[in-house]
Amino acid sequence: MLNRIMEELCWINGSVCPLSQARISVEDRGFVFADGVYEVIRVYQGRGFAVKPHLQRLVRSCEGVEISCPYSNQFIEKVIGDLVMQSRLQEGIVYVQVTRGVAPRGHAFPKDVTPTVMVYTRSMLFTRLASQRVISVTDDRWDRCWIKSIALLPNVLAKQKAVRAGVDEAVFVDGDHVQEGATSNVAIVRGQTLITPPVGEKVLPGVTRQILLELAEEQGMDVLEQTFTVQEAYAADEAFLASTTREVAWISEWDGHQIGSGRCGKWTQRLSQAFEHYRDQSVSDFNDSSSSSRSA
Ligand SMILES: Cc1ncc(COP(=O)(O)O)c(C=O)c1O
Repeated sequence: MLNRIMEELCWINGSVCPLSQARISVEDRGFVFADGVYEVIRVYQGRGFAVKPHLQRLVRSCEGVEISCPYSNQFIEKVIGDLVMQSRLQEGIVYVQVTRGVAPRGHAFPKDVTPTVMVYTRSMLFTRLASQRVISVTDDRWDRCWIKSIALLPNVLAKQKAVRAGVDEAVFVDGDHVQEGATSNVAIVRGQTLITPPVGEKVLPGVTRQILLELAEEQGMDVLEQTFTVQEAYAADEAFLASTTREVAWISEWDGHQIGSGRCGKWTQRLSQAFEHYRDQSVSDFNDSSSSSRSA
């Protein structure tokens, strides 16, 4: 009955408002990268339940992704208590989320960012000792890299490792097999054969990758979509990354091993030129067709 006069409230970094009016920037890294951690705490009879272990886990989660929460657990516990009281919440949950904060988009950790800490109350009624029917599913968390999902936390952490190592990109290796970069597809050249891992569970179907495969064939290269080991990468004649923002970027060094001659190889140069030509052609075709449709 008391739940009827309650008001769901949201606390964000010190400001409180009705939950329905709470707003977060679209550049919050929680929104664009799922770069955050959370807790759900039950509220029984107007009291948060097991608040301390939840907040202890929140601290461990923050540490796991290197977010330094600006508030102590003691402080957040007080925020939760006050919010539950102000909301007049009797039965429901408190949701707590900490994200790395708001910053221009870029995978690596932004400098001087303030984490977004959010606590809100929700009225909910749960059934005691509920009956549940279940199904089994394969544990494939997360083997769907072909989906360009915003759940990018592993990519964010990998990219940050690259930044810390003073290099430009981190390449995911599964077992011994190269998959893709944190923000790019990867390929090697051996002789006149271009080898790139097939798209699928661990590889995004990059738009740049696909264009380059077609251009490579036009250039007379043999194209193999198959995995290769990291040792094969070290021994390759050439290696490159492909992505929308990089187009083609040649790899000079991989885990400290110089690739090929240590200069941009001839096939990578040719692919880059072919890509530029293809790109300029598409842009001018588009401009021509939009100007003729405007004048029509
Ligand atoms: C994980 C990953 N793989 C590959 C790519 C390259 O894809 P595209 O060429 O479509 O930009 C990206 C680009 O963002 C990426 O994030």
